[in-house]
Amino acid sequence: MALTGLFLCSFLVIHLIGNVALFTDPVQFNEYTRFMSSNPLIRIMEIVLVAGFLTHIIDAVLLTKANKAAQPVKYAMDNKKSSWYSRNMGLTGSIILVFLIIHLQSFWYGYKFGAIEMAVDTSGAPIKDMYTMVLVAFSQLWYSAIYVVAILLLGSHLNHGFQSAFQSIGLRHKKYTPTIKKAGTAFAVAITLGFISFPIYFYISQL
Ligand code: HEM
Repeated sequence: MALTGLFLCSFLVIHLIGNVALFTDPVQFNEYTRFMSSNPLIRIMEIVLVAGFLTHIIDAVLLTKANKAAQPVKYAMDNKKSSWYSRNMGLTGSIILVFLIIHLQSFWYGYKFGAIEMAVDTSGAPIKDMYTMVLVAFSQLWYSAIYVVAILLLGSHLNHGFQSAFQSIGLRHKKYTPTIKKAGTAFAVAITLGFISFPIYFYISQL
């Protein structure tokens, strides 16, 4: 779980950086999406990414089952010393999965198989207009609201998951654990603010 989780974190960083072109240059963003959907190396990485997501989800289900089997009766005195983030990893993870299905259906499937408008690239050749597709999607309040809620929950998932992954791979030390926890929170906040900025910016800019 730790390794697939950290791998998925690295995907989020790359995805966020790629999306920045949505703010700077629509043509560059369309060229970036064309590159991502046609480059053979990226296609291989896509398979690795799907495998990463699936392994992470299967491991989560197995871990939850093992935890329940180890503690079939709940503690009578559960003093809730653990954080909300850590107690709700299953819930936040499940909602992120639902979000991911909606996200891939609109953008990934929409780009590959949907009725997408055409624009022109820097050389004047036709190119699929992913920029407008994102713009239209985020002009709808309900759609942007789903993104905002899902990304806040993703932030919560990362806030616990990041530091937990380092503990799982054996990096647990009185001296380093507080720093790793702070780094995890900083990472979660940066990813949350980064991704949330797209639906908020595009919704407000089209009011
Ligand atoms: C809110 C901001 C987001 C925007 C504007 C956005 C936009 C896009 C777009 C345009 C695509 C299709 C083209 C491409 O591969 O770049 C895509 C694919 C994808 N997105 Fe997002 N995304 C956002 C957030 C997220 C989040 C939070 C996750 C994960 C939890 C995510 C996971 C994915 C995955 C797995 C793919 C498929 C990647 C692939 O086929 O290589 N996205 N996204």
